[in-house]
Amino acid sequence: SNAPVAMTIDAGKPGPKIDRNIFGQFAEHLGTGIYGGVWVGKDSPIPNVRGIRKDVVAALRAIRVPNVRWPGGCFADEYHWRHGIGPAEKRHNTINSNWGDSVEPNSFGTDEFFDFVDQIGSEAYVSVNVGSGTVQEAADWMAYMTADPTTTAGKERAANGHPAPYKVKYLGIGNEAWGCGGSMTPDHYVDTMKPFARFTRNFNPAQTGAETMQRIAVGPDGEDTGYTEAVMKAYKGHNWAWSIEGLSLHSYTTAGWPPSYASENFDEGAYARLVKATYAMDGMITKHSAIMDKYDPEKKVPLVVDEWGVWLKPTAGTNPGFLQQQNSMRDAIIAAVNVNIFARHADRVRMTNIAQMINVLQAMILTDKDKMVLTPTYHVFKMYLPFQDATFVPATFDAGTYKEGDVTLPRIDAIAARDTGGKLWIAVTNLDPRNPAQVRASVAGVKLRSVSGQLLTAPRVDSVNSFAAPNAVAPKPYSAKASGDGITLEVPAKSVLVVQVES
Ligand code: AHR
Repeated sequence: SNAPVAMTIDAGKPGPKIDRNIFGQFAEHLGTGIYGGVWVGKDSPIPNVRGIRKDVVAALRAIRVPNVRWPGGCFADEYHWRHGIGPAEKRHNTINSNWGDSVEPNSFGTDEFFDFVDQIGSEAYVSVNVGSGTVQEAADWMAYMTADPTTTAGKERAANGHPAPYKVKYLGIGNEAWGCGGSMTPDHYVDTMKPFARFTRNFNPAQTGAETMQRIAVGPDGEDTGYTEAVMKAYKGHNWAWSIEGLSLHSYTTAGWPPSYASENFDEGAYARLVKATYAMDGMITKHSAIMDKYDPEKKVPLVVDEWGVWLKPTAGTNPGFLQQQNSMRDAIIAAVNVNIFARHADRVRMTNIAQMINVLQAMILTDKDKMVLTPTYHVFKMYLPFQDATFVPATFDAGTYKEGDVTLPRIDAIAARDTGGKLWIAVTNLDPRNPAQVRASVAGVKLRSVSGQLLTAPRVDSVNSFAAPNAVAPKPYSAKASGDGITLEVPAKSVLVVQVES
């Protein structure tokens, strides 16, 4: 139905903090995610700072990326960090066997990664090689990154241009150990992971107290709870010698495997089925959280959804191993729906990483040589900036239903939060691609004056931003005045609206 939606916001009952880390990114050595997307080399005609693209850095700074997961993905469990440090002639050419057998020149390595993270103003989430590497290799890498410049490892880093230790705030102990990371049984992973947790020491003396590095263990593959049980059970028995501070969950929106949904020129049926598939994230988090609650009732260990996003059929004419796809208004809606789900689980989900930042899967940014385009998903991340570290505020409403074929979805999805400065924000997504929605919002006990913010919509759910038309899907200013005690938000079909409420 198309009836107006009444939304009541209970500003007097603040919930948990929506950790800004739920807006984290993932940048793997895969296709043109790093080479071309981030790294063009110092001698490139493309404007760069020490080899890193200026346009991409400026775009990423604008969305205040809280953390970047690197170097993989599957790539991480075959990565040898020594191949990627030192002068050009010392770098190894290796084969990226996971991703299209391309030659990995290792010209973007540890020092370039930290330069990049520094340029965009983010934190490092480094994934160490558990699958094909040794505990010693990972420990040595940590020493290279974090040890004092008076040590041999620190001297080597200094010789490569960086005397000061790097800050490794997050450490991934392997990636998909149940799959590309080594096909380990849950118990085998637990036994393998513990020495890594113990010996990958962070020597950066600046990292004390609340700044202590968080070690994130491999966790569930989608619905499978085997790893959740085994790793959390082990966590419960952790001791002075080892622990973990995060459990990873990977879950992509694909609606079947292999990914077969088109990223361009699709119909409403395909739209609805994929959006439906993305809602599985909610039940999945609930399921794994319940197991985590059993072993960690105080919710000390966050569930880190460090790979999520829509995984579609590769763009025609591209290397299928490069996982290149376009990004549409549908993907913007999928991003908003997921962020809303994460926010509703903010007590347990305190970090996530969308896959992947540039040119790969559900990307923020697409590049082609010197050209760059911001995707509809990028715009959602930008519009949601006020939700970084905001306090969740319960909003109750009857979402209604949107039906397409045999798919039934909520017609609208929404969250509310108070930003770090105390201002109230509402984010509303209208999933119905045909009908606008009217949302009558009121805040219990408060007289509203106006709202203002940004609206993202497009002519069609499959509208995309291309290099030829980069602003086909771009946010526009939005404002409305109150009538009576509440405010009526006119939310166009297939749109994401984020507004600040003035009372
Ligand atoms: O993001 C692409 C790949 O998906 C990652 O490398 C892997 O961890 C997952 O299977």
